[in-house]
Amino acid sequence: MMVRSAIVPVAGLGTRLLPATKSQPKEMLPVARKPIVQYVAEELMASGIRDILFVTGRGKTSIENHFDADPELTAQLEATKKTDLLGQVDFSDMPANFFYTRQRVQRGLGDAILCGENFAGEQPFVVALGDSILGLHAKSRCLQKMIELFEDKRASCVVAVEEVPENEVSQYGIIHPVDADGDVFRVQNLIEKPPVSEAPSRLAIAGRYVFAPIIFDMIRQVKPDKRGEIQLTNAMKMLCEEGRRVFAVKLPADEKRYDIGNFPSYYETFVEFALADPDHGPAFRERLRELLGSK
Ligand code: G1P
Repeated sequence: MMVRSAIVPVAGLGTRLLPATKSQPKEMLPVARKPIVQYVAEELMASGIRDILFVTGRGKTSIENHFDADPELTAQLEATKKTDLLGQVDFSDMPANFFYTRQRVQRGLGDAILCGENFAGEQPFVVALGDSILGLHAKSRCLQKMIELFEDKRASCVVAVEEVPENEVSQYGIIHPVDADGDVFRVQNLIEKPPVSEAPSRLAIAGRYVFAPIIFDMIRQVKPDKRGEIQLTNAMKMLCEEGRRVFAVKLPADEKRYDIGNFPSYYETFVEFALADPDHGPAFRERLRELLGSK
């Protein structure tokens, strides 16, 4: 049982990042040199994923364009002998196939994943949220570990989690671990965006999942929430309630999750990645010191 395909939902409206996202997808916002979605694709390919389905929506065509060939640009870079840049914009030898489909109506994350049912077929698959980067420059090994655990335990679901401060639990799906020792736990329940008083832990779902195809049956049974959205977390809750094996892998302390869904964390992510830029990082660091010194 090999996990070789991934569904990347990128259909969200990005309302928390307006006006920046008025006419461009949040997944195309740059973080240092690359758009967010490119880091996500690179992480997936480094984890052995060979087929990637983007679930897009209206106004998201720039994602397809980004990974497509651009003969005019290529010819110009060749003519001006900019070979280093050519390598950075030519995705033709990427080890994965890219597919695109549209979620026609915004009905939540669970519904977006359901758009990938035929794509996944009878095989297990990864879900990687298109607005989250795992690890600095997407160098996290977490997804690989999740896939190994999924295969090893013959699980129905493995989810990545990170510990968040108490005042942030209401922004995420929160797991109820059986025993939170170490960095791999069995999950007994989950709750989507609970108030602090009802949160069973501070372990938040961190945008990466591995699923057996049974999840599609569960999603179909989920009732829409108050906003008419089908929550993926509620489908995972059903897996737990049926006694199926659901596990969580905690992100190691040195592999942060960069959540681009809101401005404070987008700003932080950009600065951290820019500081790590091999060419411009050192000068940027100096400039930041000057700026901060003058405050
Ligand atoms: C989604 C999931 C939530 C998860 C979060 C991670 O929420 O529903 O369980 O913790 O992604 O970013 P959203 O950010 O789409 O509201």
